[in-house]
Amino acid sequence: MKCIRSEIIGHGHFLPEKVLTNDDLAQMVDTNDEWISTRTGIKSRHVAAEKEYTSDLAFNAAQMALKTAGISAAELDAVVLATVTPDNTTPATSAKIAARLGVKAGTPAFDISAACSGFVYALTMADNMIRLGQAKTALVVCAETLSKITDWTDRNTCVLFGDGAGAVVLRAAEGEGTAADTGVLATKVYADGSQFDNLLTNGGVSTTQTAGHIWMNGKEVFKYAINSLAQGAEDVMSMCGVKAEDLDWLIPHQANIRIISGVGQKLGLPEEKVVVTVDHHGNTSAASIPLALSECMEAGKIKKGDLVVFNAMGAGFTWGGALVRI
Ligand code: UT7
Repeated sequence: MKCIRSEIIGHGHFLPEKVLTNDDLAQMVDTNDEWISTRTGIKSRHVAAEKEYTSDLAFNAAQMALKTAGISAAELDAVVLATVTPDNTTPATSAKIAARLGVKAGTPAFDISAACSGFVYALTMADNMIRLGQAKTALVVCAETLSKITDWTDRNTCVLFGDGAGAVVLRAAEGEGTAADTGVLATKVYADGSQFDNLLTNGGVSTTQTAGHIWMNGKEVFKYAINSLAQGAEDVMSMCGVKAEDLDWLIPHQANIRIISGVGQKLGLPEEKVVVTVDHHGNTSAASIPLALSECMEAGKIKKGDLVVFNAMGAGFTWGGALVRI
């Protein structure tokens, strides 16, 4: 049955210039490259400059996405930003980016706070708007400056995170209603607030009037991560009658190579179909998936027609998946 699909017509990413290696971190806290590499798979991450904000990263990624889409910002009908590190508590950073890009006044813009699941949530909301006819062309941008909420004296967390941004432009297109269509084929998002205390900042506007620093119960997050990431992927595949062997790529949230490999194995995917960027990005929360997607598309690794699953899990806990034909 004919239906409206949200096609990805543009992709973009941006990373701050400064790179922090594991050896650099070993100068700051009691750690070493061997521990970080074997426990997480991370070798280096990018870190924003003091006056470089989430909106700057998002703006640059969005500009690249508009350029690869071959459209102007004036053609956008919606701007959705996923972040846990907004420039200001209010207004939404998406509104700032929209104005800077030259989006028409009156175009809806809003931020989504779903931590590392931010891209899957933002894609879901933008896709829903498009399928309902509320927007024809939408920008989904995910950007984080996690370095600003990292406790640089805590070796348990400071080695894990990085800054960066990724973006996609979605446009409505007519589909046949089958898995052979191009565009977003299925999305599914979840949350379980009983896990709130296992991954959070130890501060917030209403509680401490500070942003706080990231804290996590790493082992609990780890245990939950593999199952929830697998669920995100399996559900969207079963919604479309797609099997793991039909996939060209899995782009999981990039937090830890052991989690990424565990999810790939649980889904029965060969290693070469599982995208890994955590080695040079670290965990960039909401930005990790669109950043990885855009890097792979720029390199010509992921191509038009490829069938891809995005799956993510993060604070909340939140998790979910999206099945997309590029
Ligand atoms: O983005 C949302 C999703 N987030 C995640 O998916 C993160 C999930 N969790 C993880 O990736 C892992 O739990 C971590 C990488 C955070 C930790 O790995 P682990 O294998 O669970 O290590 P651990 O926390 O059990 O720590 C083992 C040891 C401890 O020492 P003792 O108590 O055994 O003496 C830690 O103190 O490693 C120590 N340790 C470190 N040593 C050197 C912790 N951090 C470091 C460090 N360098 N940076």
